[in-house]
Amino acid sequence: MKVTTVLATAALVMGVSAQSNGSPLAPVPNNLLWPRPQKFTSGTSDHTFSPVGVDITIVAVNGNQGALERAADRFRANVLSVGCDAQSNTGDISQVTVTVTGTDPKDLAQADESYTLNTSASGVTITANHTVGALRGLETLAQLVKPVQKLPFHAGPWSITDKPSYSWRGISLDTSRNYIPVSSILRTLDGMSATKLNVLHWHIVDATSFPVVSKTYPDLSNAAYSKLSIYSYADVQNVIAYAADRGIRVVPEFDTPAHTNALSFSKALAPYILCPNGGAGGTTSFWPTCPEPPCGNVNIADPNAAPAISALVKEYAALFTDSVFHMGGDEIENFCLNQSPQFTDIVFGKGAAVPATGTPAWQKGLASSYQKYADAVRPAGKTAMYWEDIVINDGVTVPAGSIIQIWNSWDNAAQKNSLQKVLDLNSKGAGYKIVDTNNDYYYLDGGSGAWLTDRGFGPGGDSWKEDYWTKYKTWERVYTHDPRKSRQENTTDTDGTGLAGPLVGDLSAIIGAEAAIWGERISDSNLDVKLWPRAAAVAEALWSADAFPDPTAKDFFEALPRLEVFRDRLIARGFGAETFQPAWCRSNQCGAAFSGYPAGLAYGNQKPEFW
Ligand SMILES: *[C@@H]1O[C@H](CO)[C@@H](O)[C@H](O)[C@H]1NC(C)=O
Ligand SMILES: *[C@@H]1O[C@H](CO)[C@@H](O)[C@H](O)[C@H]1NC(C)=O
Ligand SMILES: *[C@@H]1O[C@H](CO)[C@@H](O)[C@H](O)[C@H]1NC(C)=O
Repeated sequence: MKVTTVLATAALVMGVSAQSNGSPLAPVPNNLLWPRPQKFTSGTSDHTFSPVGVDITIVAVNGNQGALERAADRFRANVLSVGCDAQSNTGDISQVTVTVTGTDPKDLAQADESYTLNTSASGVTITANHTVGALRGLETLAQLVKPVQKLPFHAGPWSITDKPSYSWRGISLDTSRNYIPVSSILRTLDGMSATKLNVLHWHIVDATSFPVVSKTYPDLSNAAYSKLSIYSYADVQNVIAYAADRGIRVVPEFDTPAHTNALSFSKALAPYILCPNGGAGGTTSFWPTCPEPPCGNVNIADPNAAPAISALVKEYAALFTDSVFHMGGDEIENFCLNQSPQFTDIVFGKGAAVPATGTPAWQKGLASSYQKYADAVRPAGKTAMYWEDIVINDGVTVPAGSIIQIWNSWDNAAQKNSLQKVLDLNSKGAGYKIVDTNNDYYYLDGGSGAWLTDRGFGPGGDSWKEDYWTKYKTWERVYTHDPRKSRQENTTDTDGTGLAGPLVGDLSAIIGAEAAIWGERISDSNLDVKLWPRAAAVAEALWSADAFPDPTAKDFFEALPRLEVFRDRLIARGFGAETFQPAWCRSNQCGAAFSGYPAGLAYGNQKPEFW
């Protein structure tokens, strides 16, 4: 069997780009492409090529010739993986030409991911300004081959003009709560590449374990789960190189000052880590010292703490080459600090009355010591990234241009609607960039119930985590969430899920989003099923956002068949991706029978738990 792709000499018959609100998008022939290109036209007849026999010419004078040649090899393998005949070495299409016209920037963050892809009877051309655009184009070309070779194609020639709507399209991977082997990280990068995600936010360490070698404090490896659960420098460099080859950035997170029990395993750092095991103020549990065990908060008032932590940040800022470095900054442990004389003696004076947490006097003392700490540990020459808590809850100001990552949307008055709150800070001149990881939409690890220790603690009692971020987020839910077009959270709504009006402010500050896969109940054995293909739903929502004026009006029946075809590719590439419908629907057009929703059902007005 020859590999049939969707290429032809016939006239272009179809133009597809952004459609008006609510009207169905023109179909993608054979449901081939995910994410949907910004603009494409396609014809009416087929062409074939052989992944073995086709000549792939790379012209990248000022691009990365090596990366593109390796991508071309992967392209051949990916096409073969979906069931094509390796023996065939003929086809109508004999030539694929990939041209990079510009000079790659040193910083992948500055690279242009746009590309054009044209097919004709004789050949395919992919043109991009930068290498990363050509990589995206090769993934698109691989998707022009239908996985299940059952039906003829009626779709060539193709002309595709494509670029991402959001520049930051990430996955946040937690490798601390449970160790994730390097092989699973590399596989995750392959999936990201397939769906044009471009940032691996490596939440590499946390309170629970410290799975990366430190040359500054080698005894931090005592906080790894085992000798086999430690990333060496070579492992990290391997992940970074593998990602870069696929046009993916690796942004590490070394979270402080909270979430730092693991740092107390180093003799040099232990004196600066307060309440590593919870139990502040004579309490017997982790709660209320911190929301999840173990605890640990750097004594941000101790003048020796910042230089000690800074040495570690400096080490990893050199190891991780990306221009962005995530400093953490979430969930400061107020109760811990409040009950620790090592902190309060310095901030409020020895023997002085300590104001209660939450009072203006407490907030002032916290903010002044936290500000000094944050300023002292920031890596030179990099853009710092933080969870929103530091600027929304803790009164710290970080440099303009810093990236604030939004995670919190549950019914916490201080942090609810925090994306809007960061936009409000920007209106007053803060100059922050924003990455959305709203836990009501993007926390993909949920769906297994709360972790045993999470039950019965925290605001709202034992249901809070189950109701919000441990809940399974359906693909429809993540697919219809667009960070710029999402709505403000209703701050007076008591169940934590209500929505209000549109976001207000300069929405261009919102550069993208990340799907998060927290590690409490994740290991390499269930990573794929939790991530895929829902992370791909996030990928299309971010890459193709401009094609959907109203994200809440997306047509699930248009999207799901394409998502299922994309899943076929993931399965062919060795992923344990979940399915979203009975296979019966694949040939019985489930969508056609039910197309359209009941009149008047406005999805954007539903509570998110609707799906
Ligand atoms: C390349 O850069 C030019 C100039 O910025 C831009 O117009 C074009 O869309 C970019 N992408 C491609 C694929 O040419
Ligand atoms: C692809 O076709 C489009 C539309 O005809 C054209 O604008 C573009 O320059 C072509 N690109 C390449 C690489 O041939
Ligand atoms: C916010 O929620 C409250 C309480 O449920 C409700 O009365 C109010 O109408 C909501 N506001 C908006 C703008 O939806």
